[in-house]
Amino acid sequence: MNFENRTGEPSSVHWHGIRIDNAMDGVPELTQDAVPDGGDFQYRFVTPDAGTFWYHSHSRSWEQVARGLYGPLIVDERTPPDVDADIIVMIDDWWLEQSGELRDDFNSIFHFSHGGRLGNYAKAIVSQSAVLEGDRVRLRLINTANARVFPVDVDGVEGNLVALDGMPLKAVRPIDTIHLAPAQRADIIADVTGDIEVSFWTGQEHYPLATINAEGSNPSTRTFPIAPLPPNNVATTNGDADIHVTLKMQGGAMGGRHPGDDIWSFNGTSGLQESPWLNLQRGTVVRMTLVNDTSFPHGIHLHGHHFYEMDGEISLWPLRDTSLVDARGSRDILCVFNNPGKWLLHCHTLGHSVTGLKTWVEVA
Ligand code: C2O
Ligand code: CU
Repeated sequence: MNFENRTGEPSSVHWHGIRIDNAMDGVPELTQDAVPDGGDFQYRFVTPDAGTFWYHSHSRSWEQVARGLYGPLIVDERTPPDVDADIIVMIDDWWLEQSGELRDDFNSIFHFSHGGRLGNYAKAIVSQSAVLEGDRVRLRLINTANARVFPVDVDGVEGNLVALDGMPLKAVRPIDTIHLAPAQRADIIADVTGDIEVSFWTGQEHYPLATINAEGSNPSTRTFPIAPLPPNNVATTNGDADIHVTLKMQGGAMGGRHPGDDIWSFNGTSGLQESPWLNLQRGTVVRMTLVNDTSFPHGIHLHGHHFYEMDGEISLWPLRDTSLVDARGSRDILCVFNNPGKWLLHCHTLGHSVTGLKTWVEVA
């Protein structure tokens, strides 16, 4: 990928969810210098996993991503599932003026210290706007918003959730409301029963995000069940960890005092320090308890790896690259750190990350 920066300011590209060679990860503080305006950078990498990923700016990301520097990155399975349509549903929200222009106050302390820069207008950009009734479709939902957690509902289909954050589920699940933190993805395979309506619950109403019209019908209606996607080659686990660590989030509005020197902190420090939070030998299995001691939800993203969300039965733990931790909640994750390099760990509400909610780990 030849990246030509013509944006007028320094930038870089991060390939979110790709278990990538560290030098290609696109993080200016850790893995490369930001590419100056007018400069080029050649990203060369292997995509080890099939699935739904995305890419976005990792420089002044709270502004550059909000301005649109992102896109989907789809890696096909060697034998893709048998569907009639494969549709990308890229969800975002924007904070707009009355005129429809994007508001340009990106550095608001109010937003940074609350839930981030939530938009007043939301929409899903879909790669295909019509299907046939009876079609079997794959929908790839991507939350590209820089702050909003979307509780997404999909109507007009009958089927299953088959993947999260690009990684196939071991067993398909019913489609319920899908809570997507910033950067999270979900793949659905389902049969079309009517117009497909994608919406989210605002707390008051179902806000429409996209409609994919069902025009005409597909006589070759499939009846066989929806099977799990073929697994990617990620290190498996018996659930045992070599070390157990806690990562505590503090700060923000309505949060009380904390020892960090910015709005947010992880384990008492704000932002990237000289040395990594964890120094790990390659292959170390880490159990991490993510403790959210704040009044806001945070979607915590680890670069270069997928990890298990320790949720329910071990055999069903989903692999994710971003984990949503509710306000005042906590969650345990288990990660086999087998990708060498310097990896960022941060909140994907990008205004939180820039005001302290980030750290890094090094895998030797
Ligand atoms: Cu999606 Cu550090 O990024
Ligand atoms: Cu956050």
